[in-house]
Amino acid sequence: MCSSMATSLCITFLCTLFICSSAAHDEKKVTNNPADELVAIVNSNRTAHKAASLDNNPGLGCLALQYIKAYQGKCDDVGGSNAKKPADSEFAETFAPNCGVEATTLSPITGRVLGCQSKYVTPDKAFTEILTMKNRSLNIIYNTTHTEVGAAVSGSDGGGPYFWCVLFSNGKSNSSFQLEGGVAKITRPGCFSGANDECSGADGWSQNLNILTVFVGVFAAIAYTIGV
Ligand SMILES: *[C@@H]1O[C@H](CO)[C@@H](O)[C@H](O)[C@H]1NC(C)=O
Ligand SMILES: *[C@@H]1O[C@H](CO)[C@@H](O)[C@H](O)[C@H]1NC(C)=O
Ligand SMILES: *[C@@H]1O[C@H](CO)[C@@H](O)[C@H](O)[C@H]1NC(C)=O
Ligand SMILES: *[C@@H]1O[C@H](CO)[C@@H](O)[C@H](O)[C@H]1NC(C)=O
Repeated sequence: MCSSMATSLCITFLCTLFICSSAAHDEKKVTNNPADELVAIVNSNRTAHKAASLDNNPGLGCLALQYIKAYQGKCDDVGGSNAKKPADSEFAETFAPNCGVEATTLSPITGRVLGCQSKYVTPDKAFTEILTMKNRSLNIIYNTTHTEVGAAVSGSDGGGPYFWCVLFSNGKSNSSFQLEGGVAKITRPGCFSGANDECSGADGWSQNLNILTVFVGVFAAIAYTIGV
């Protein structure tokens, strides 16, 4: 399948990835977690628009990762005419138990923004090119009702497509989405915000490197976004 030209493109792309990931390792100061970086971008955009900065709640971040997993890697289900979204009951029935979020501390979700693309991009690109492609998403992001935020990113089966999800709530940050024992259940693949852990959004490539997946990713960058 991979012609020699395609192979050299693949190699160039992989080298670029390698350089990017080595560069990322040198920046120890910034939390090495794309979900936390996305929260920082959301907050800087909010404050630039005179909206308050939001608390980064790890319980809500973990729910955002569960929200992504509910799509089972199906990018097509995110947007378009066949768009689906998880039932609200899933939060209490599935997402919270999987995260160890105490059911009694679940608070209203006041906004959700979800995007999907076949290749992995950096959080700033995910924000500008995927999550805020539609103006409706920005209205959700700037809404002053929110008090806290949780974000997540995950690939599927060790490769693309990559899903980005931001959940907003108006809960009280000290008492909403509380984790049993105060500790976030870290699950891989995927990264979520607020848990002070290092995480690589492109995790899985090293375990299950599929040249063809990467190749398709370069040329077929599909993106969907919904704001609810
Ligand atoms: C959002 O924030 C990023 C990074 O701070 C900035 O580059 C971008 O212009 C902002 N976008 C909007 C719509 O404010
Ligand atoms: C902000 O979000 C709340 C809760 O989802 C919604 O009721 C309200 O209409 C939104 N406000 C704006 C200005 O979009
Ligand atoms: C989206 O927002 C931009 C800037 O605020 C505006 O120029 C553009 O017309 C808007 N697009 C739609 C479809 O509303
Ligand atoms: C909530 O958290 C803040 C900062 O961590 C703390 O100063 C405050 O006392 C807490 N409030 C309650 C009601 O626990």
